[in-house]
Amino acid sequence: MQNLLTAIVSEAKQGADALLSRPDFDTFKARFVGPKGALTSAMKQMGSVPKEEKPMMGRLINEAKQSLEAIFAQTLERIEAQEMQAKLGPAIDPTLPTTAGPVGTRHLISQVRHTVCEVFRKIGFSVAEGQEVESEWFCFDALNHPENHPARAEQDTYYMPDDASFAGLKKKGDERLLLRTHTSTVQIRTMLAEEPPLRIIAPGRCFRRDTADATHSANFHQLEVLCVDKDVTVRDLKAALDFFVQELFGKGAKTRLRPSFFPFTEPSFEMDFMSPNMGKLSNQWIEIMGCGMVDPEVFKSAGYDPSVWQGYAAGMGIERIAMLLHGVDDIRNFYQNDVRFLRQFS
Ligand code: DAH
Repeated sequence: MQNLLTAIVSEAKQGADALLSRPDFDTFKARFVGPKGALTSAMKQMGSVPKEEKPMMGRLINEAKQSLEAIFAQTLERIEAQEMQAKLGPAIDPTLPTTAGPVGTRHLISQVRHTVCEVFRKIGFSVAEGQEVESEWFCFDALNHPENHPARAEQDTYYMPDDASFAGLKKKGDERLLLRTHTSTVQIRTMLAEEPPLRIIAPGRCFRRDTADATHSANFHQLEVLCVDKDVTVRDLKAALDFFVQELFGKGAKTRLRPSFFPFTEPSFEMDFMSPNMGKLSNQWIEIMGCGMVDPEVFKSAGYDPSVWQGYAAGMGIERIAMLLHGVDDIRNFYQNDVRFLRQFS
């Protein structure tokens, strides 16, 4: 009997190492401790063992059982670890740095906005912010647009539903809310919030009902310029614009002001520039912005005394500047998010 038990245990020890899967293990285990297993039948022989040998045999059987259990437990642990490893694949070290993923770049519109801001920063301007949802007063009335001005027409402007409301925007009377059509709104917001003198630029998104084509988009970006001080004249405006075009388009660039009309400036101008470094567009006048001297009515809207303060203002399209700087010929390229286009400027 003792030899039998020793043989059972050593058979289990030898056989266990070769087991690779759970089903194999279960079959193997049954060979020893299952209903017809070797140890089970050895235990059945206990009945025929003489009475005085029974305690000793009982102890030997118990020892054999414990040895088998230890072998089974170890083997099962090994098989489970191997199965887990197979699922996880090769050993991984989670502390290693990741392989480099795709790296994004700034969108060309953001780059050009930044460049223009940097130019104006050099001559003392700081960035001011407004908001994209505005009230009619900020967008039109305060900027001296009469009630019947064409820019206010339904077909040019995105008006909000009558019952729309937005945090912090108080409507006056039956005023409507809208998506701002220009960044000139920030002139008013800044002047209401700050005392003169001031020099600000305000880049931002604007909206107009436009059918998209190579030069129009219903959603576009502008950059507003406003300088308010004492004794400001058109010469200061011209000097700032000359500096701007020379920084952007090269030292040989020059500007020209053509009379124009905007409700919020008097006099008003279209500004053209010409530069020898413009490729096909070299040495010809190119229109890039509207500008002028701040209309006294605008100062009154903002609570500034027009007999004390003067100022100049200008507004330009960021897309237009980007197109001129980089030879982009279709504004829709900016919004289609085709990385093959965008990556060229990274
Ligand atoms: N707000 C004008 C527009 O969207 C652009 C503009 C013209 C802004 C003249 C100005 C300015 O500040 O002085 O067409």
